[in-house]
This record gives sequence, structure tokens and C-alpha cells, in this order.
Amino acid sequence: MDYYTLGNTGLKVSRLALGTMTFGNDWGWGADEANARQLFDAYLEAGGNFIDTADLYTNGNSERLLGQFVKETGSRDRVVITTKFTYNAEPGNPNAGGNGRKNILRAVEGSLQRLGTDYIDVYMLHTWDRMTPAQEVMRTFDDLVRSGKVRHVALSNAPAWYVARAQTLAGERHLEPICTVQLEYSLVERHIEFEYVSLAQHLGTGIMVWSPLASGLLSGKYKPSQAGVEGSGRLAQLANSGNPAFDKFTKENWAIVAELETVAKELDRSMAQVAINWIANRPSVASVIIGATKLYQLQDNLAALEFEIPAELQQRLDEISRPQIHFPYTFFEPSTQGMFYGGATVGNKPTSYSQPIVVEGSGMAIATASDS
Ligand SMILES: NC(=O)c1ccc[n+]([C@@H]2O[C@H](COP(=O)([O-])OP(=O)(O)OC[C@H]3O[C@@H](n4cnc5c(N)ncnc54)[C@H](OP(=O)(O)O)[C@@H]3O)[C@@H](O)[C@H]2O)c1
Repeated sequence: MDYYTLGNTGLKVSRLALGTMTFGNDWGWGADEANARQLFDAYLEAGGNFIDTADLYTNGNSERLLGQFVKETGSRDRVVITTKFTYNAEPGNPNAGGNGRKNILRAVEGSLQRLGTDYIDVYMLHTWDRMTPAQEVMRTFDDLVRSGKVRHVALSNAPAWYVARAQTLAGERHLEPICTVQLEYSLVERHIEFEYVSLAQHLGTGIMVWSPLASGLLSGKYKPSQAGVEGSGRLAQLANSGNPAFDKFTKENWAIVAELETVAKELDRSMAQVAINWIANRPSVASVIIGATKLYQLQDNLAALEFEIPAELQQRLDEISRPQIHFPYTFFEPSTQGMFYGGATVGNKPTSYSQPIVVEGSGMAIATASDS
């Protein structure tokens, strides 16, 4: 297992993090306690140290089980735990949710208690609430870091402008900066490339990827059929739930799955491994959170970085999955950028926002070609 520094911090984390949204069967598609313990043990045995949870997951049982396993294995100093707040814990009480100071200070106590620890390594805002000013979040984060209850802070599922504002305020006002931005990113969900890849490069945050297999779609376990879709698992259960994160059975996605299957066959690797490898090696990606309900899945996924995808195969996956470019991003393409310099060659040829220079081994990219 390789370790990378997370964003601009001194915190060393595994490139493959363990997701614990499946710890506990409270939502009907997770792993029971015995199964979850196996997943935890196998991850630690493989050398992993970065574990992601949230107060929301399985109604708090994910944090409880994780805390229990960490205690049983005496691994608190070794593991780096990320947990999150935002989702409401008390019907009828609007201040028991969202990102205001009152809720953050309430939520952190609950997470510390369920995890059975006196500090959280990375405390994360789970989702933008459209209301709380970035100043309030960053100031509260800073207070928590100074109190010792939290070591690093992060944002998930927030608009790029909000992340940029939060990080800029932190820099100007000497508050604890954000170390990572956690976002959905996979071969079938690449829209973050329009903003967040360069955001991570400029603000030194690194991206922590969630749902690298699109909830299992990219493992190849689902197939389109005359009757609808064949295959069982979380995605089959939740495809019609109305949550866009689970709306993955589309014509475009089946084409990506088909190409991934061909590439995986050529590499003699599982589709899950190729999908995880491809996303882990995208610019600005600091860590990929792998999820599983069964041990064989985790073992499969843990081997995802043991090989390289040759450039030609990477290119094929890139092409089939490339999202359509909309305004204003059309203006940042070489065809328009080239119109600025009167035909003169100015430094590097301006490149697309989606082709940054990656600094080998840093876990993130730090500059785009068009910056230099
Ligand atoms: N910040 C956020 O808003 C956010 C949102 C979502 C997730 N997350 C974090 O990211 C983690 C990972 O997300 P995710 O669970 O959605 O990741 P994912 O990799 O997209 O999906 C994992 C699921 O796919 C199936 N699977 C995984 N590996 C497989 C394999 N090798 N073969 C066949 N099936 C396989 C399993 O589900 P089945 O067995 O049910 O098919 C497994 O639970 C979560 O645990 C959580 O920590 C964060």
C-alpha cells in the first residue's frame, strides 16, 4: 500500500481509503457486524490506514462499528478517520442539521462518542446547505482544530465557488485550511473535471473520490436485458429511488461499461480493478474510497493499483466516458484560447482544463500547463 500526503498537509494516507457506508445493515444493503469486521481487518492487513465514515451512515452504526473495530485492534494511532456532519439527527429541530456552528458543535460530540475516540483526523462538511456562510464553517473548523478534537478539516459535495471562498478566507484569516474535497468521480460521473481538478491544483486540497464503481455498476455485475436489468446489489435496489446518485442504468453508461469490459479483458484484470485504477490515476486525485459488502469484493478492489493501464487503453476509456462540454468551459478549450495571442507562441501551448501536469508521486497535480 502506497501512502500519499493528503492535500497540503503532513498527513500520510493510503491511496485507497476504506468506505464504511456499508458497515451495518440498517439501510438494507450493507454488511452485518461480522462481515464488516472482516472488511475492516482485511483492509488493515493490506496496509490501509485511511477510513471514511459519516454520522449519517447506517443511522450512526457505521461510526459505532468502526469505533468498536478500532478499539478491538488497538489501531487508533495507526488509522486516519474521516467523519462528516450535515444531515439532521432530530426531526423538527432545524439546528440539529446543516452546517451552522450550533450543529457542527453538536454533531462533533456525537461522532466522538460513537467512534469512542477523543479526536477525529479529518472532519468533513458532508453537503453544502445553501445557507451557512463559509466564514462560519471555517471559523468553527478552526476552533475545533485548536481544541484538539479535530486534526484536519474538509468539504464534500459543495460547489467549487464555495470551496474556493472557504479556502481563500482560511488563507487570509489564518484559519485551518481544507485538506481535501470529497466528490463523486468515476468513469460514468466525470463532471467534476470542469471545475474541481483545477480547483484542487490551485488550492492544494487534493480530491478524495467517492463511488469509484458507481455503486457497483462498473464491477460489471449488472447487464441490460430485455426484462430491464440483470444483476443484484445496492444499485438494483435503489435505481428507482429518485436519488440521482443511483440513477446509473442509462444508454451512455452501458456503452462505458461495455468498453471497460473489453479493456479489462485485454489487461486480464477485473472490471472493478480497472475502473478504480483509472480514476486513482486522474489528475488531482489524492485518494479513492473503495466500498464493499463482501470480502471478495474488497480483496478484488485492493489489488486495483498493482498494475498500469497502458496509455492506449487509458485513452479508450477516456474517450468513451468524456462528458460533453458546456458553456463557459467551451471557451477554455485550445480552439478559443489560441485566439488570444495573435498567432504567437506564448510559453506552453494552452491546453484543456482537463489536461493538467501531474507531479509524479505527490498524489495530486500542482499546476496546469496553461499556468506556466
Ligand atoms: N461524501 C459523500 O457524499 C459520499 C457518498 C457516497 C459514498 N461516500 C463514501 O465513499 C465510499 C465508497 O462509496 P461506494 O460504496 O458508493 O463505492 P462504489 O465502489 O461505487 O460502490 C461500492 C459497492 O459496489 C459493489 N462492489 C464493490 N466492489 C465490487 C466488486 N469488486 N465486485 C462486485 N461488486 C462490487 C458493492 O455493492 P453491492 O454488493 O450492494 O453490489 C459495494 O458496496 C462509501 O463507503 C462512503 O465512505 C461518500
